[in-house]
Amino acid sequence: MPDDSRTTRVPEQPALTPLDTGRAHHARVYDYWLGGKDNYVADRAAAEAVIAAVPTIPRMARENRAFLGRAVRHLVTGLGVRQFLDIGSGLPTAANVHEVAQDADPTARVVYVDNDPIVLAHSRALMTSTPTGRTAFVAGDALDPQAILDDPEVFATLDRHEPIALMLVSMLLYFTDAQVDTIIGTLVDALPPGSYLTISHPTADFAPAAAGQAVAAARHAGLTYHPRTHDQVAALFTGLHLVEPGVVPMLSWRPPPGPVDPRSVFYYVGMARKP
Ligand SMILES: C[S@@+](CC[C@H](N)C(=O)[O-])C[C@H]1O[C@@H](n2cnc3c(N)ncnc32)[C@H](O)[C@@H]1O
Repeated sequence: MPDDSRTTRVPEQPALTPLDTGRAHHARVYDYWLGGKDNYVADRAAAEAVIAAVPTIPRMARENRAFLGRAVRHLVTGLGVRQFLDIGSGLPTAANVHEVAQDADPTARVVYVDNDPIVLAHSRALMTSTPTGRTAFVAGDALDPQAILDDPEVFATLDRHEPIALMLVSMLLYFTDAQVDTIIGTLVDALPPGSYLTISHPTADFAPAAAGQAVAAARHAGLTYHPRTHDQVAALFTGLHLVEPGVVPMLSWRPPPGPVDPRSVFYYVGMARKP
């Protein structure tokens, strides 16, 4: 059973890697696209280079946050989940996972995991749990998923016998197929039956030339992106039961009312239940 003695966990752990503001970092580039202020010259240069290839990237980042909010709300209100393991959680921004989840169920518990030292530095902003819920931040590397599971904070905060929503939202694109298989395989194996996996993943399917230019611009700035096709994203859910509407363009996943062009946001998303 999780330890109930505190509702928030302020990290005491050291950063996994030293803060290097001279090189672009994923969390800070994404922060720039979202209009945040936690970014440096190298991050802004990389972010602008990608924008030059795909001018609507900032809108796509905002749509990704909107999807994250829809997914969390559906997990709590539609599927009865109240525990979240959010890996590659990013810098605190509007509508963080615990805020959305605890708005729907104040007892919801969230463990945030990220490997960027600046996310660790800002993680106190995520430690704003309701009195009956819990939040924690773990400095962890998705490339070592077993170490994340072994961090005592994770299952001090989450009950390993109750369903857990694993959130891998806009973060698998940094990894090779073999790395993604290890990340998902290790983490999903450790979750109890009835848990859920939620993924959002960039794709080049809707605009191959522009997406290719964005990948090249990112690579020039030292950032590696692996966009994936519909079939490749669908394969990430092998062995799990997809929640309706399946693996679809982000704007087709339980969208708010109103006309949209689903192919205008270059992402696939999906959510599935572990049997
Ligand atoms: C695009 S942001 C997504 C943030 C959030 N999930 C969202 O969708 O709004 C990607 C995040 O993944 C994190 N990340 C990248 N590589 C990672 C790794 N190896 N381990 C843990 N986090 C990582 C970055 O630091 C960044 O915060």
